[in-house]
Amino acid sequence: MRLTILGGGGFRVPLVYRALLEDRGKGRVTHVTLYDLDASRMATIGRVLAEQAEGVADAPEVRVTTDLDEALTGADFVFSAIRVGGLEGRAVDERVALQEGVLGQETVGAGGIVYGLRTLPVADHIARRVAALAPDAWVINFTNPAGTVTEAMSRHLGDRVIGICDSPVGLGRRVASALGVDPAAVWLDYAGLNHLGWLRAVRVEGRDLLPGLLQDDDALTSFEEGKLFGAEWLRTIGAIPNEYLHYYYFNREAVTAARAARQTRGALLIDQQRRFYTETTGSALALWESTRLERETTYMAENREAVGAGERESCDLESGGYEQVALALMRAIALDERTTLILNVRNRGSIAALDGDAVVEVPCFVDANGARPLAVDPLPDHAQGLVTSVKAVERAIIEAAATGSRQAAVRALAVHPLVDSVKLAGRLLERYEQELPQLGYLRGRN
Ligand code: G6P
Ligand code: MN
Repeated sequence: MRLTILGGGGFRVPLVYRALLEDRGKGRVTHVTLYDLDASRMATIGRVLAEQAEGVADAPEVRVTTDLDEALTGADFVFSAIRVGGLEGRAVDERVALQEGVLGQETVGAGGIVYGLRTLPVADHIARRVAALAPDAWVINFTNPAGTVTEAMSRHLGDRVIGICDSPVGLGRRVASALGVDPAAVWLDYAGLNHLGWLRAVRVEGRDLLPGLLQDDDALTSFEEGKLFGAEWLRTIGAIPNEYLHYYYFNREAVTAARAARQTRGALLIDQQRRFYTETTGSALALWESTRLERETTYMAENREAVGAGERESCDLESGGYEQVALALMRAIALDERTTLILNVRNRGSIAALDGDAVVEVPCFVDANGARPLAVDPLPDHAQGLVTSVKAVERAIIEAAATGSRQAAVRALAVHPLVDSVKLAGRLLERYEQELPQLGYLRGRN
């Protein structure tokens, strides 16, 4: 089995490789090709992987290339985990919005829209090259904003592109543990868009355990989402939102906290990772491990601080989300091992308010035929309202990227629930265009 990782110099690649090393089953990945525009970052990651593979029999062979076509040819699976504009671009996305007084975040609000506008032309090119060179390959998309990027790629690849995210799995694992049940044995009724979903039921042997959990303050506030949202709000909506909903439900607090911080998350990560990517002596693996722990420890720290949620639980610092979903998905497809995973796929009626081609994040049945969305309970009206608005934003981003329409880009910003003025939307886009050369393709300035 041949796996190609686009964004091979990315910081999370060793997580994926570690999961591959632990996989001793049949049909395992035997060859990994890393592709990245930045050969030096990829070389650093290559050193980490080589250390990880030391002493492991039959470790997957690793090859690196900066040529996309070469990377795609012969691939069975393609993981796309690129960051167009790098962390520097992310820091701009976040800073400009915050300076204008609205949320500046990697994937949510104005920052996420601009990130999408920057990423889609590249994702589109990748999708076309996959369709031409590896039409039978499955593309597993982690590239953010994952829902928008997956939907744009699906226009070329149909159901052969599947988007993934670790946040629903993390939520499921935390809720299962608060309930004292095996995460593998629960049915999670989770639905929405990427970074915009709600857990509405947790079924075990035909019984929904969520109503009981919602009445138990101690259990509720024992895990991340309970701490972030507070027991009372969870009871009020009768569901547990994805942690990213914090940016909507506590927008003021999130914006205030981010504006008060010394630097944005992107800028902080640049500082955290600088040494890792430039150090050429010593153990690359040890330095990667300590940098990773630092990153996990500070994840959403401001949100937690803004609502007095305290420190992150140590079990959340151990990864096991992102790469495990990727591996489980790949195995289910490659070995026809039937399973259920929460994934980003075309809707096909799963969420009634959206059309069939809209990419949504819902539980899916997975086997050798790919991933099919399962029927879920209807979204409550407040959730449906948000999902519909944000899908309209995503569609405007896709339109802007496909046609170069600047008007569509302004519309994406202006209709987003967290951008509160059309005038501001115009000003944000102008400022982003000044700082981000990747937006140069937008035409129709007026
Ligand atoms: C989670 C989300 C990803 C997101 C990441 C940001 O893993 O699912 O989509 O990119 O958090 O984490 P970071 O450490 O980069 O702020
Ligand atoms: Mn995600």
